[in-house]
Amino acid sequence: MRIPGLIGSTETMGEVLRLVEKAAAGNFAVLIEGETGTGKELLARAIHTSGPRRRAAFVPQNCAAMPESLLESELFGHVRGAFTDATVSRQGLLAAANGGTIFLDEIAESSPRVQVKLLRFLQDGVIRPLGSVREIRLDVRVISATNHSLQEEVARGGFRRDLFYRLNVFPIRVPPLRDRRRDIPLLAAHFLRLYARRAGARIDGFTAETMRLLEAYPFPGNVRELQNEIERIVAMHREGNLVRPDELSKRFTAPRRAAGRSGSRSWRWSARSSARRSATAAATSRGRRCGWASAATASTRRSPATGSGDRRPPPRPCSHCRPRIRCTNPPRIATDSCRQVEQEKMKRFQPSFYPR
Ligand SMILES: Nc1ncnc2c1ncn2[C@@H]1O[C@H](COP(=O)(O)OP(=O)(O)O)[C@@H](O)[C@H]1O
Ligand SMILES: [Mg+2]
Repeated sequence: MRIPGLIGSTETMGEVLRLVEKAAAGNFAVLIEGETGTGKELLARAIHTSGPRRRAAFVPQNCAAMPESLLESELFGHVRGAFTDATVSRQGLLAAANGGTIFLDEIAESSPRVQVKLLRFLQDGVIRPLGSVREIRLDVRVISATNHSLQEEVARGGFRRDLFYRLNVFPIRVPPLRDRRRDIPLLAAHFLRLYARRAGARIDGFTAETMRLLEAYPFPGNVRELQNEIERIVAMHREGNLVRPDELSKRFTAPRRAAGRSGSRSWRWSARSSARRSATAAATSRGRRCGWASAATASTRRSPATGSGDRRPPPRPCSHCRPRIRCTNPPRIATDSCRQVEQEKMKRFQPSFYPR
């Protein structure tokens, strides 16, 4: 399936697109889970526009954006006099989406009162505007999204279990950008082309080093963060056809821990424990790499005489273990295998990522 404006070539995104295609053909409730900025709204729109409801409205509403009473009136509408400021009757968003789709973003943030009313709508297809005694029957498809696990929220008691089952008929999980790094060059080139064209600027692509830095960054804000960064770069760009590393924001060049679930934390933060774990693993799996690795391995063995190992952390990292590991790596130990790994890494970054 091809979704206009959606970039992604990795297998995980291919799987997501297959689910989107299935969802578009059906009429059931869809729950999209994924970190902020991963493209949940984009996918919800794609489900709507690729399905039979495409001619009717797609109405997005962020459930975290307004207080409980306002959200209730926004979704279900109200009649005149329903509350102090209700000087006129107002149709709600659900009624506005009749025949089409409503997209409830950040559904986990909705209040218990709104949850009860949504459950009634999903079960019986009817709503009752605030202050009204009449029920209105509607035909609206519900797609909801959340940036943290709704199931965990149910387990915590923060979300109704019965509503969860109604919303979660067809779950779609969107992977974070750091788990599909091969999409980064494509997305970066796409956004560069987009913003350069809008600005009338002539920027053809990125230097290999700039792309290396982009690919190594963990992107806690996912695609939205990449998009904003490229937009900023284009706005600030002064000279040359290629984006240079010094045009990136500082966080892209700052040293940090290797990407992981908490990739936005500085690598210095837990250098000791994580370095020890990874150095021990590296030493075990690929043979001894550097002074730090061997020291870490030694420190796990207890000396029979003193009952303790040598726990002094060597002071400097070798080129291979940088930036996570502090290790002694006298030139003698900066082994060929370390250099070889570095060279192989550099080779991978050689292809150019220049958009047409
Ligand atoms: N795969 C993608 N290809 C192109 N643009 C994307 C992709 N994923 C997200 N975006 C863009 O990133 C921004 C954030 O996407 P959005 O759907 O609002 O994320 P979310 O709802 O998960 O926070 C939007 O501008 C969207 O167009
Ligand atoms: Mg969103």
